[in-house]
Amino acid sequence: MTRHRRDENGAAPDDWLSIGEVSARTGVAVSALRFYEELGLIASERDDRNQRRYPRHMLRRVALVSVAKRIGIPLQDLREAFADVPLDRPPSHAEWQRASRVWRRQLEERRQAIERLEAELTGCIGCGCLSMKACALLNPGDALAEDGAGPRRL
Ligand code: FES
Repeated sequence: MTRHRRDENGAAPDDWLSIGEVSARTGVAVSALRFYEELGLIASERDDRNQRRYPRHMLRRVALVSVAKRIGIPLQDLREAFADVPLDRPPSHAEWQRASRVWRRQLEERRQAIERLEAELTGCIGCGCLSMKACALLNPGDALAEDGAGPRRL
């Protein structure tokens, strides 16, 4: 990394943060930040002492990763949402808007899946038959039928 470089917004060198500073500002553990970086969710550059330095705009990504984790969004889904959001410069408003649309679609799919599960679970709690043939919770989409006739579980 060229430590004294200014980014496209004219950010000064002070706008580059160490991993400890990012951790302190976001509340995310240093080990988690390294993991997010391995997954390509965030990116850093190295200074002349081979220490990670993060541009300030990376704080927003870290915050979004934290939110996604808190609400149960798999990090793989987040990678999909971030796919067109650049890592090497502050993303534009339009780029964040595109990511937001992908994320909203993912959330809507999860919401619908949870509603389906809730409906099935409610029915099963009142039923209790545990039928492999009839119970959508035990055998979603009758997937066990592909394994042949006869008992498959329990
Ligand atoms: S327990 Fe009877 S349908 Fe699920």
